[in-house]
Amino acid sequence: MFRIPRGTRDFTPEEMEKRRYVERQMRTTFQVFGYREIQTPMFETLELFTAKSGDTILEEIYSFTDKSGRKLALRPELTAPVIRFYVDKMQMSPKPLKLFYFGSCFRYDRPQRGRYREFRQAGCELIGTNTPEAYAELIALAYFLLKNIGLKNIRLNIGDLDVLSSMLRTLGIPKDKQKQLTPLIDKSQFKDLTSMLHTMGIKKKKIDEFVDILQTTDTQKILEFLNKNTSSKAKIEELEKILDLLRNSFDIKNYHVNMSIVRGLDYYKGLVFEIDAPVLGAEKQLCGGGAYELIPLFGGKNIPTAGFAIGFDRTILALEAEKFVFPKPKTDIFIVPINNDMMDISIKIAQNLRKEGIPTDIDLLRRDVRKSLKYANAINAEKTILVGPKDVEKNCVTLRDMRTGEQQIIKIKDIPSKIKTKKLQ
Ligand code: HAM
Repeated sequence: MFRIPRGTRDFTPEEMEKRRYVERQMRTTFQVFGYREIQTPMFETLELFTAKSGDTILEEIYSFTDKSGRKLALRPELTAPVIRFYVDKMQMSPKPLKLFYFGSCFRYDRPQRGRYREFRQAGCELIGTNTPEAYAELIALAYFLLKNIGLKNIRLNIGDLDVLSSMLRTLGIPKDKQKQLTPLIDKSQFKDLTSMLHTMGIKKKKIDEFVDILQTTDTQKILEFLNKNTSSKAKIEELEKILDLLRNSFDIKNYHVNMSIVRGLDYYKGLVFEIDAPVLGAEKQLCGGGAYELIPLFGGKNIPTAGFAIGFDRTILALEAEKFVFPKPKTDIFIVPINNDMMDISIKIAQNLRKEGIPTDIDLLRRDVRKSLKYANAINAEKTILVGPKDVEKNCVTLRDMRTGEQQIIKIKDIPSKIKTKKLQ
């Protein structure tokens, strides 16, 4: 009768188990890197998101007016909300401030596989430092968040907007004209880029060299070109230091310098990076981030900020595409009262196990033993406890291993110690 809104999804218990597994792993990784979790509201004032990008972003945003006439928006991302929160309440906190979050975001995108109107992000913001070691650690965190959940094949691309801008200046394109070119670079439309540079009066040889550097992933070649062709020596040295730390201190060898990484959002400045899962095809970008500037725009005292967000839904798709075997949560124990008189004692047994943290379920449909065992099988229960009058008279129950079918009579008081299962975390 009712249909789910376009671009949104429902999640079955099995899907939620996968999602919670990934979230648990990611939370641990954030924490071992010294980050602390925060939460911000699902909706904000609309202006928070238009302040930097202007009204062009309105097309992408779910915005509405509330009953008091306030213009509000469902958040399309969490960086602006986190910086609003920082400026409002955390400016005095010790630096650097390392904050992470999980949250739903909403974008009026054209839905397709891996692209939704409601999706989840796992992200972080690093406030108050811009040293190469801070940036290297940030990139390493993004990398290990994805590696630690079990993803095998990811591709890390690192770029720098200041260096790109300096390359364009060296080509003879002033800052105000560069904005016309970045969307073409972002979408890898190199033919269109070549013709636009041509109309801007740049020599063919120079254009070819530049476009070649945008397309190559040969780090050495890029760095040599940059050292010869830009005025940002200090910036290039900083980039080299970040790469050196990634390689030698964080043991991440498979990164690619890619000068065509420009990012879609308007607030980035300097370092930018993305992580793709090539297995996903079109919507392959799992993670995007970099250094950015929003604090002064929101009225705070300017200090460096950087961060990234991982698309949670795409990460799950990538794991599935790699045939990752998610750990399967199961009910360890299913309790079967043989008749209704056994219900009270059965519930007591169930509660004692639950108090021990052992996932325990009990028949709530008053089914007979055969049907109960069938159900226990269906929910993947490891063991069942059959509670019958003859056993109970002797303070015992029958413990049945659902895999082998083996049964043994055990004392009620010995149940927890006889059940060697993993407790819930
Ligand atoms: P973003 O690149 O717009 O960056 O989004 C980050 C990730 O969210 C993307 O790489 C993608 O995996 C996922 N994503 C984006 N749109 C969708 C969608 N419609 N459906 C499914 N997944 C999607 C940001 O949002 C920045 N706030 C990241 C950041 C944090 N930069 C600095 N700090």
